[in-house]
Amino acid sequence: MATKERWASRVGLVLAMAGNAVGLGNFLRFPAQAAKNGGGAFLIPYIVALLLLGLPLMWVEWTMGRYGGQQGHHSGPGIFQSMGRGRFWKYAGTLSLWSCLVIASYYLYIETWCLAYAGYSAMGGFLDKDLAGVAHFFERLTGERSNQIVAVSPWGMGLFALCISLNVYILSRGLAKGIELVAKVGMPLLILFAAILAIRGLLIDPATDPNAKESPFVGLNYVWEPKFDSLTNPSVWLAAAGQIFFTLSIGMGSIHCYASYLREKDDVTLTGATTAWTNEFCEVVLGGTILIPIAVAYLGMTEVQQLTQGGSGFGLGFFVFPTLFNNWGAFAPVAGFLWFGLLFFAAITSSLAMAQPIMAFLQQEYGVSRERSAVQFGLLLLPLSLPVAMLHSNTFNDEMDYWAGTVMLVVFALLETILFAWVFGMDKGWQEMMHGAELAVPQIFRFIIKFVTPVLLLVILSAYIFKPKQDWEPYLTGIFSGTGSAAWEPAGDGLIGKLLHRDIQATLDDPNLPVERRQFQERLMLVRNVDRLALVGVFVFFAVLVHRAWVRRRAEGRA
Ligand code: TRP
Repeated sequence: MATKERWASRVGLVLAMAGNAVGLGNFLRFPAQAAKNGGGAFLIPYIVALLLLGLPLMWVEWTMGRYGGQQGHHSGPGIFQSMGRGRFWKYAGTLSLWSCLVIASYYLYIETWCLAYAGYSAMGGFLDKDLAGVAHFFERLTGERSNQIVAVSPWGMGLFALCISLNVYILSRGLAKGIELVAKVGMPLLILFAAILAIRGLLIDPATDPNAKESPFVGLNYVWEPKFDSLTNPSVWLAAAGQIFFTLSIGMGSIHCYASYLREKDDVTLTGATTAWTNEFCEVVLGGTILIPIAVAYLGMTEVQQLTQGGSGFGLGFFVFPTLFNNWGAFAPVAGFLWFGLLFFAAITSSLAMAQPIMAFLQQEYGVSRERSAVQFGLLLLPLSLPVAMLHSNTFNDEMDYWAGTVMLVVFALLETILFAWVFGMDKGWQEMMHGAELAVPQIFRFIIKFVTPVLLLVILSAYIFKPKQDWEPYLTGIFSGTGSAAWEPAGDGLIGKLLHRDIQATLDDPNLPVERRQFQERLMLVRNVDRLALVGVFVFFAVLVHRAWVRRRAEGRA
């Protein structure tokens, strides 16, 4: 049986939870999403999503976690099962193990890039590099070339293995001496690095810096200046909700797991809200003051908007930024090290959080020691991480990011809200949440958690599924005016469209498509299908493990 682990201190708990939430999403994804969705116009839906989805779900997850932990459960299946009878709930909770493993398998790969880039920057490797030079470094690191699916780089894979081993080592040291310690060191450094970069960025002055095209405040203004015109665009609202989910680490059972190591009377409302606010500080204030202002200062607004079209911020962060730092002369290697170092700290405190639920499950249900469960986590990663490392990132990674990093978060959140507010019961749930509470959550959140959050989650899920090829507007007005939606066709990036490979089909339909691109797209279809089979396989694997664990529990009278 696993030993009883606990957080060593409250500061440590808050930093570990903040480390869980603060990740690549804060520094790469948020700025790019904001730029893509109208800057200041994005912030309003974003704050609404924070209040109606983010905070309520944060409290629900903390409360569920602490409740399950009191009964000795530290991972999704057990925590869900402790709140709802019937065998369904433990399989719903199994989704947590699935998402954590799937996301970890590509998140860790990007973490590896951060490490490599930080080291190379510190060595002054990017000093003489232009865009092509940085792209060449990336190609050596990942083996990736455009239009080639297979991308193998021996030293990239070696570093990946090293990075996974580092995570396994930290995890094997346990909650307080591993995760909590890394968060206590990593989080303050991250904030310091980010603050230095943000300040240096704002000091860019076009009057004295011949390479600067604009004042950085043009970019800062763009992020902050309220604009109301895109508020009627459903895509902006969906993007805002998606960002809130991803950045707060909600909908994956990872918060539950961390909260399950609380004591019975430990507060969840104030500490949970503190985690959320810390994340928002790192996201909106720090994340919003680095990528966009610096890029706008040197490249101009139009180019930045083009570079962030995909909404992930990778191109800007990994390809363009090292060249921009070169405008800072001797400070460039330091700036590069600070930037990729902060990304690395952000990433590692998050990847550890993805591993802990899986380890907790193995320890608890299969009696594995902590050290062994850490190694087993590393081994479980292999079947997914190998293709991640050996294929172009726009193929295997993107597919997993869609199913696990986007769709499943919402599905899982919907299930947990129903479990908490309707199965366990809102009255009981509220009472449990207020147990030991140091922040009296306004009563209105009772109503929000019970009705508003689940309805919004349903709307978001339906929107993911039925995303139309053309704009939402004509389609929605079609429904409401009774003329029907005869013109509905799935969008290439909606759930139905993805299942039918509509996006690939659309590219292939172009008669002028160059041969290499055509081949890439055809192979992409195969890769995606294999990927989906693997994803189903991973779920079946965990479901079988859960099933066997509960057979044993029943036999021993512990179910
Ligand atoms: N919140 C993390 C980020 O901003 C990413 C993330 C999503 C995550 N789900 C998670 C991290 C679960 C840890 C556990 O990058």
